[in-house]
Amino acid sequence: KKIVVLISGRGSNFVAIQECALREDWEHTIEAKIVAVISNRPDAKGLGLAQGYGIDALCVDHKAFESREAFEEKLFEVISRYEPDLIVLAGFMRILTATFVNRFEGKILNIHPALLPSFKGLDTHQRAIDAGVRMAGTTVHYVSAALDGGAIIAQAAVPVLPSDDAHTLADRVLVFEHQIYAKAVKACVTGRVRYENERAVMDDETA
Ligand code: GRF
Repeated sequence: KKIVVLISGRGSNFVAIQECALREDWEHTIEAKIVAVISNRPDAKGLGLAQGYGIDALCVDHKAFESREAFEEKLFEVISRYEPDLIVLAGFMRILTATFVNRFEGKILNIHPALLPSFKGLDTHQRAIDAGVRMAGTTVHYVSAALDGGAIIAQAAVPVLPSDDAHTLADRVLVFEHQIYAKAVKACVTGRVRYENERAVMDDETA
């Protein structure tokens, strides 16, 4: 199976998934590998990291297009060349339209640094601190046309400490992002988690 990863920046979630794939020898056990990393920003650090692994690293710069639709048309074309089974959004900071999402229905995953359905959108850690929640966390979900609204696959809850600011909380949550994203991607690739009728259906052991 083939995975395409979309990023916008640092690429630490991409690296976590790639390292897990290498460690567990996915190519032999479940025959899946990351075949391309695509960024909408040319300066994304993750592109260089992908090259370091010998993975195709490409940029589709959204600023080079007149409209969101034109950008997505190009993105669709580039992704389609790889015929991926799964598209993994890892810190990809562009909103995708329903047209794009529907073309890959049930094949796009995202990670969000909050316990959805709370704190959709940007600036989640500061908003969690401002709201005074005692538990923050992260969510892996299928991507639907509703922003951060698709079916939930996996979550991890992370305590908010009294001394936290948005940065310390983000750092603590990120450790869990790396763990649950790699695990969730593997579960989707093996078919232990499946997309059916806009729901994430899963066998008990992956819950
Ligand atoms: C992660 O916290 C992700 O949840 C958020 O953006 C960050 C991306 O980090 N949406 P990285 O590029 O994977 O290091």
